Amino acid sequence: MTVSRCTPEDVPELVRSAAGLFAEDAGRHDPRMDLGWPAREGTAYYAKLVDDPGCLCLQAGGGHLVGRLRPPDPLRPGAVTAVLESMRVGPEHRRSGVGAELVDAFLAWAAEKGANEVTVRAYAANEPALAFYRARGFEPFELTLRHRNGWLSTVDPAH
Ligand SMILES: CC(C)(COP(=O)(O)OP(=O)(O)OC[C@H]1O[C@@H](n2cnc3c(N)ncnc32)[C@H](O)[C@@H]1OP(=O)(O)O)[C@@H](O)C(=O)NCCC(=O)NCCS
Repeated sequence: MTVSRCTPEDVPELVRSAAGLFAEDAGRHDPRMDLGWPAREGTAYYAKLVDDPGCLCLQAGGGHLVGRLRPPDPLRPGAVTAVLESMRVGPEHRRSGVGAELVDAFLAWAAEKGANEVTVRAYAANEPALAFYRARGFEPFELTLRHRNGWLSTVDPAH
């Protein structure tokens, strides 16, 4: 499977893959996510990324990977961080190493750009993705803990 850099001509395909990711991932794991975002804003958003040297847009196996360098964080002066913003492999191509190739290309790009750490966020319930990232060498670093809105009926507004 060939991994290639997206060109401006590939933006519609990138938007299609991102829409698939939104539907499959956020659609299952976050009822508050705006699933209409890729169709509404995706073309302008990805067209900008494809032309940005601080971003990486790859395609392979009916899917995509988007990564970017994060601006320096004054609170973590030693960190040069590249973020894997989103990725997806077409269902018919899964478990044949395409995702691994995409991530390896991203890691190589991040190293070339001087990154000394790479991060990715995933839903805690997306177990296949977590297994995949672990298999590529990622480990949990920070966790988001969420309290569902059941607490609202139990708090005293006076406090
Ligand atoms: C996660 C995803 C990108 C993985 O892509 P892929 O091309 O299937 O992954 P690979 O074939 O390169 O897998 C590499 C290794 O990761 C692990 N892995 C991948 N998918 C897995 C799964 N469903 N369950 C458990 N482990 C898995 C395995 O160790 C695998 O090696 P193996 O096949 O030799 O056992 C793909 O399943 C996908 O697009 N999922 C839907 C979108 C998504 O969840 N994206 C991530 C959002 S954070």
